Amino acid sequence: TINIYVEQDNGERIALEAPTDMGLSVMEVLKANEFDVQAVCGGMAICATCHVEVLQSGELPEMNDDEAYMLETLPHATESSRLSCQLRVNPELDGLVVRIMPEA
Ligand code: FES
Repeated sequence: TINIYVEQDNGERIALEAPTDMGLSVMEVLKANEFDVQAVCGGMAICATCHVEVLQSGELPEMNDDEAYMLETLPHATESSRLSCQLRVNPELDGLVVRIMPEA
């Protein structure tokens, strides 16, 4: 397992444990921990309701075209925005810090 942190509005970081051997996405880990991520499309990169801002990370996987396109259409997206459903939990994500975007 690795640790993923969710930064709250008050700056507090909540640590989550995420197994690396189950093929989960960060979105699924957030949902499993009862964060308010709607993920309407179920991880197809077409709803953007799993939008997070990456505050700290190691090497992140490249965006595929679908993710890049979705983020381009989002008014609140920043340079550090990602769709959490497209981030597969793997050992390289250990220590990832995200903020769940308000419109997610
Ligand atoms: Fe819909 Fe990620 S769950 S874009």
